[in-house]
Amino acid sequence: NESSIAYSVGETLDRFIKKKQDDFTYASGELSQLLRDIALATKIVNRETNRAGLANIGGAFGQTNVQGEEQQKLDVIANIRFTRALTKGGEVCAIVSEEDDEVIDLQNSSGKYVVAIDPLDGSSNIDVNISIGTIFSIYRRVTPIGSPIQLEDIMQPGNKQVAAGYVLYGSSTMLVYTTGCGVNGFTYEQSLGEFFLSHPDMKAPADGKIFSINEGGYNQFDQGLKNYLKVCKEREYSARYIGSLVADFHRNLLKGGIYIYPANPKNPNGKLRLLYEANALAFIAEQSGASATDGENRILDIQPTSLHQRTPLYIGSNIMVKEAMGFLAKEK
Ligand code: AHG
Ligand code: MN
Ligand code: MN
Ligand code: MN
Repeated sequence: NESSIAYSVGETLDRFIKKKQDDFTYASGELSQLLRDIALATKIVNRETNRAGLANIGGAFGQTNVQGEEQQKLDVIANIRFTRALTKGGEVCAIVSEEDDEVIDLQNSSGKYVVAIDPLDGSSNIDVNISIGTIFSIYRRVTPIGSPIQLEDIMQPGNKQVAAGYVLYGSSTMLVYTTGCGVNGFTYEQSLGEFFLSHPDMKAPADGKIFSINEGGYNQFDQGLKNYLKVCKEREYSARYIGSLVADFHRNLLKGGIYIYPANPKNPNGKLRLLYEANALAFIAEQSGASATDGENRILDIQPTSLHQRTPLYIGSNIMVKEAMGFLAKEK
């Protein structure tokens, strides 16, 4: 009956962050504040994505980013919103963004944290009203507080992340993040302007029957990958590909599945970027019991050498990632 479906509202994100902070004696509260600043920016970007078609902020911005991609207006708007929120918050000294060629130095040398962010993921889906996302990684700076930012503050491997998360602007808007003690998902209640805990302690199924890959590039795939896909089809797995990494990843995390964006001759390191796409999702994947590799190596162990470097990505249910890698290895 009605009352039984009245959702039992979990605790708010704010209370959850506070509680987690209380669990960590050493937590100084800056990371909590930083997570709150990100959540605030998310609410603003959520509102903008919900009315993109009406507020004439859909469509192309008219410039290309360092990736050579045509920036969408919402790419630029989301980038500004997150940069502004992190600047105001005062906890961050530098930002690496998909939409900025160079590191954004916030001229805040007392900021303890560095953030790598894909402000809007799945831009090609904005104008066709399909789910899009945001992806972020948080690192502690390694050089002394108060000194200028150095490259080693920025070029940290994913295994140094102190937190990572994604936002899915989908049929509902969700924030999913980890600080290294498991993964928790929050659903946004528009009428209250609050995120509520809806998916506590998320665990990825060890195996799955969903594979996500853009087979448009099939002819260029390695033989090992072709052999793996052939087995997926013999087993009659479901092919699901949204074209928004966050949405494909989130579905696979909940239902079990594998997302693959492979290398190909045109893109020898694939398309997805290590610093602000693969690392964050790899941290979340592993924290929920799943796996993330570049086909051979653990994503989180890759030492970055350039800001916007790309990496092939095999991410999702453990058993599926391991099996796919087995097929690749056999053809090496
Ligand atoms: P972004 O919009 O942030 O540039 O990321 C797009 C990525 C990812 O979201 C998606 O899974 C992938 O590009 C889709 O690439 P293809 O269109 O080549 O399949
Ligand atoms: Mn892009
Ligand atoms: Mn992206
Ligand atoms: Mn993007």
